[in-house]
Amino acid sequence: MARRVAVIGAGVSGLSSIKCCLDEDLEPTCFERSNDIGGLWKFTETSKDGMTRVYKSLVTNVCKEMSCYSDFPFQEDYPNFMNQGKFWYYLQEFAEHFDLLKYIRFRTTVCSVTKRPDFSETGQWDVVTETEGKQERAVFDAVMVCTGHFMNPHLPLESFPGIHNFTGQILHSQEYRSPEGFQGKRVLVIGLGNTGGDVAVELSRTAAQVLLSTRTGAWVICRSSEWGYPYNMVVTRRCLNFIAQVLPSCVLNWIQEKKMNKRFNHEHYGLSITKGARKIIVNDELPTCILCGTVTMKANVKEFTETSAVFEDGTVEENIDTVIFATGYTFSFPFLEEPLKSLCTKKIFLYKQVFPSNLERATLAIIGIISLKGSILAGTELQARWATRVFKGLCKIPPTQKLMAEATKKEQLIKRNGQHGGGTEGERESQEGSASSMDPDLGLYLTTPAKIKSQHLTN
Ligand SMILES: Cc1cc2nc3c(=O)[nH]c(=O)nc-3n(C[C@H](O)[C@H](O)[C@H](O)COP(=O)(O)OP(=O)(O)OC[C@H]3O[C@@H](n4cnc5c(N)ncnc54)[C@H](O)[C@@H]3O)c2cc1C
Ligand SMILES: NC(=O)c1ccc[n+]([C@@H]2O[C@H](COP(=O)([O-])OP(=O)(O)OC[C@H]3O[C@@H](n4cnc5c(N)ncnc54)[C@H](OP(=O)(O)O)[C@@H]3O)[C@@H](O)[C@H]2O)c1
Repeated sequence: MARRVAVIGAGVSGLSSIKCCLDEDLEPTCFERSNDIGGLWKFTETSKDGMTRVYKSLVTNVCKEMSCYSDFPFQEDYPNFMNQGKFWYYLQEFAEHFDLLKYIRFRTTVCSVTKRPDFSETGQWDVVTETEGKQERAVFDAVMVCTGHFMNPHLPLESFPGIHNFTGQILHSQEYRSPEGFQGKRVLVIGLGNTGGDVAVELSRTAAQVLLSTRTGAWVICRSSEWGYPYNMVVTRRCLNFIAQVLPSCVLNWIQEKKMNKRFNHEHYGLSITKGARKIIVNDELPTCILCGTVTMKANVKEFTETSAVFEDGTVEENIDTVIFATGYTFSFPFLEEPLKSLCTKKIFLYKQVFPSNLERATLAIIGIISLKGSILAGTELQARWATRVFKGLCKIPPTQKLMAEATKKEQLIKRNGQHGGGTEGERESQEGSASSMDPDLGLYLTTPAKIKSQHLTN
């Protein structure tokens, strides 16, 4: 039975994992490469360390009623949606309340996690860490990988002919912290995810002009909904789930699209979503910015010249100073050995998105590589609770041969259905290392039988 557990990363997932280890009388040691808890919720003024972190103005997009750890509610006076500082403070309160900090070794990077020679009997791992230039090796009975979904910026420069001739500033949204430095500039933001929407709106207050380019459009919803209740509270209902399951998808889509367009017609605002795509973003101000002309919606960029962008609809925008790629992230596990390293980047080969299918002993769990309808806190807590019980032998998972056969079958089925190459949620979910988050936080609204089917395939 496992006793000593290495937890890699002290973000939301890592904190969930430490707590669940303690609940199961396991001995966690958490390694965190930075000097604080909270992972991407720890705001820093610069992005020099290359870590993905929240920008200054970020506000949560899942309300507090739907997003706390199960045994640690937000304090009464917390707002329904909170800024990044307040949310980080909640994580700090959680860590202090359950006395988790003493299990964390800060400024310690995990360099490698390899199977011990007797792994098939013991399930143990050799973990090599580095603290301020000094390496250490230790043996652990189990490992919880909590290194996050948004590790590496996805910068698809190859999709943009001429970008290398562009003489203006180019950056990825990972580097974006605040609107300072963009005053009076003509800025082109590429990608309409939650980040692209937020950055465009924020820059519209200081930049000379903001252009927001999208390939697929998006449904844009507000944090508040009917009667002023937070949106997630209104749509996360058993009866709506039931309706989504019984109605034919064409009827459901028709009702939902009508509802989405009731506040404003997405087509009129240049936001109309590609047929078959189901992308929802949360943005309270974007429609108003478009209405007032401070943000101009644009089609996908066809090519760049030295100073301008040519769009697929034939329009050209001259004198662009800055291009911000808000094109999302990928994830990877550089400290794992092959073939485990590659397998873990394919979600389909993670049993219930947690246990790699190719391990003869279920002593390594990936926590937090999930796209959810609601808050990540509840999701990672459930994953960690289950994983620690598997480590202890209280829960069993099927043998590796069965898991590999099932995952391979699902992968083939998805390929046969044409789900490869990027576009719909199902496609992106099955892509290697893609931190797709088109649905994550509020996808429920557009849950259709078709979507449930594709989710089932990728689980
Ligand atoms: C801009 C942005 C806004 C978001 N807003 C919301 C929101 O409003 N609501 C919501 O529910 N979700 C939101 N999310 C989703 C987000 O993924 C989760 O909220 C959550 O922060 C993920 O936590 P995590 O612990 O899995 O990963 P992270 O927070 O990324 O933490 C990973 C940790 O692992 C550490 N680490 C990595 N590699 C190593 C190594 N080799 N050795 C040691 N340590 C290592 C890192 O330093 C980091 O501290 C947002 C995501 C982004 C990018
Ligand atoms: N709390 C908040 O309010 C908040 C704020 C920001 C982010 N987040 C979260 O942070 C995570 C990451 O969000 P994100 O917006 O950074 O990434 P994302 O959700 O992955 O969105 C990236 C967008 O980039 C575009 N894109 C990707 N590849 C492209 C290519 N090759 N060419 C052109 N466009 C491309 C796509 O938009 P198009 O289809 O339009 O091209 C895609 O939707 C998500 O979980 C999100 O919910 C939350």
